[in-house]
Amino acid sequence: MNAHPLRRVPLVRWPITPCRRASSKVPRDQIPISKKKQPLGNTQNGPSELKRTVKPKRREVPPKTQSSQTEDPSSETKEKKSKHGIPPTALAFMGITALAISTYSSYLYVSYKREVKKSQALVVSNDVSDRYNKTASTFDADVEISEKFMQLGSKRNDLIRHARGNVLEVSCGTGRNLPYYLLGERRGVNEFHHHLEVNGCRSITFTDLSPQMVAITKQKFESMYPDFTRVSYQCVDAGTVTPPPAGPGDPPRYFDTIVQTMGLCSMPDPVATLRHLGSITEPKNGHILLLEHGRSRWDWVNGILDNLAPAHADRHGCWWNRDIGAITFGSS
Ligand SMILES: C[S@@+](CC[C@H](N)C(=O)[O-])C[C@H]1O[C@@H](n2cnc3c(N)ncnc32)[C@H](O)[C@@H]1O
Repeated sequence: MNAHPLRRVPLVRWPITPCRRASSKVPRDQIPISKKKQPLGNTQNGPSELKRTVKPKRREVPPKTQSSQTEDPSSETKEKKSKHGIPPTALAFMGITALAISTYSSYLYVSYKREVKKSQALVVSNDVSDRYNKTASTFDADVEISEKFMQLGSKRNDLIRHARGNVLEVSCGTGRNLPYYLLGERRGVNEFHHHLEVNGCRSITFTDLSPQMVAITKQKFESMYPDFTRVSYQCVDAGTVTPPPAGPGDPPRYFDTIVQTMGLCSMPDPVATLRHLGSITEPKNGHILLLEHGRSRWDWVNGILDNLAPAHADRHGCWWNRDIGAITFGSS
């Protein structure tokens, strides 16, 4: 008979064997026999022996770091996404901003170089004062934004409120100082010497080389101060203006205050003009009040001013690279 006699196979609990790690350098056939799994069919040793020899090992778990213990599994993917700690959208925004800035800077640089080339090719006379006849009607609109940006209104106010007595304003332009005059004399305290004095303007004379500019100042003054009558207007060079005599046969009197704002950049000989203004200012208590613009204390700014000066003077009638400190010291 070929039939095998029925064997009783006892129920066994299959032991949990440790996984062999891929990194293990020990070849499978060199693993000690006691650690090898016994074939199931070996009935001689039987499952009970297996239980004795192959002890189930605890599963090896790689040591966890402190952070990995607290973080959830999705944090690993998040870390990969933000490798530098900056979110990708912020990186993209920074990249686009950098590109826009560099493109605009290149555009400015190329335009600047082109303007410098044009400017250096121009031959411009030292006297550019005639430009204001053409630009008088648009002057206020042209300078409005830059004056606001530089807060020139408060600087004009700080200067003009010191005008007192018989006042002369030369190079008055379109009358941009008009809102800041204190018209009519009154008693007050001198803010520097702290003694009583008479403040405010007794009379005021506006002059400019450009008749168009004088006309605009006159129109503005009359609508602003219709009741103030001690005012006069002259179309004259600041280097030749003279105060009127107090009465017939009297010698010319002095002005108590002479005002000039943004004018030294426009006249052909600013040192000679200042000397002349000094000669018609009341010698004891008179003042010349100046608010001017010119060379910077920074060389890189002066480089730009010098490079573009001929084009600016030709267009706007202003030499913006003049050394105002040297001009005022030179005139004294
Ligand atoms: C830049 S604008 C300044 C106007 C005004 N003072 C202001 O602060 O807005 C220069 C003015 O100086 C005037 N000007 C130029 N050369 C002059 C001169 N030799 N005598 C008097 N005015 C002159 C021009 O006509 C122009 O109105």
